[in-house]
Amino acid sequence: EHGLAAPQYPWSHNGVLSGYDHASIRRGHQVFQQVCAACHSASLVAYRDLIGVAYTEDEVKCLAAEVEIEDGPNDEGEMYSRPGKPSDHFQNPYPNEQAARFANGGAYPPDLSLITKARHDGQNYVFALLLGYREPPAGVSVREGLHYNPYFPGGAIAMPKMLTDGGVEYEDGTPATESQMAKDVVTFLSWAAEPEMDERKLAGAKWIFVLSLALVQAAYYKRFRWSPIK
Ligand code: HEM
Repeated sequence: EHGLAAPQYPWSHNGVLSGYDHASIRRGHQVFQQVCAACHSASLVAYRDLIGVAYTEDEVKCLAAEVEIEDGPNDEGEMYSRPGKPSDHFQNPYPNEQAARFANGGAYPPDLSLITKARHDGQNYVFALLLGYREPPAGVSVREGLHYNPYFPGGAIAMPKMLTDGGVEYEDGTPATESQMAKDVVTFLSWAAEPEMDERKLAGAKWIFVLSLALVQAAYYKRFRWSPIK
């Protein structure tokens, strides 16, 4: 069962030779951290993964140090909390699924680490979903605690509309419109789901370059070898 098919958007990183827009990943991380992370985990992402991608090493150390990590047991067998380190993963907003459901009227906010891959047409879906809240059409009623959104399978979602113009303040001065924030957070989530994409495409381009040199050589050599036998 699907929701309404999402419109197709020209993601700047979707080309065969196109890398991520890293300024957008950085803004998207800000949206994730300031908006989505209140309810969603992204537990496959470690702070250090952002080094050289969206932040410098010093910035990442500061980002990580702002969160409090439950660690232990220590030598005395006690749990303790400490400031985060770059090697720590993003923390879950809730201690467990029951707590998450309790806080969200029974619905479970899924981990977003792989969401752009896990859902059909994930990037366009998440973008359309975030911007897809509207009044239900005449005759459609939505249960208390749910919100009409035609892109969500079933058309009624427990997540309220999260993005409103000016919801965050971007440090690079980009106007934080709803659609800008949706684009940036989807770019961030696409990176989270496929952090190796830039390297993969670069490696592919190098292989094609080297193999095309080999092809030229092989073609020349073939003509050379066969020339006396014509
Ligand atoms: C569901 C993304 C913020 C609560 C979802 C889904 C996505 C998503 C893609 C649908 C997953 C699916 O297809 O199964 C985001 C993003 C956010 C954000 C990108 C930030 C911009 C929040 C916040 C809350 C929240 C702040 C809590 C107040 C939920 C819940 C669901 C959900 C409860 C499950 C809905 C249901 O099953 O009916 N979110 N979310 N989300 N989200 Fe969010």
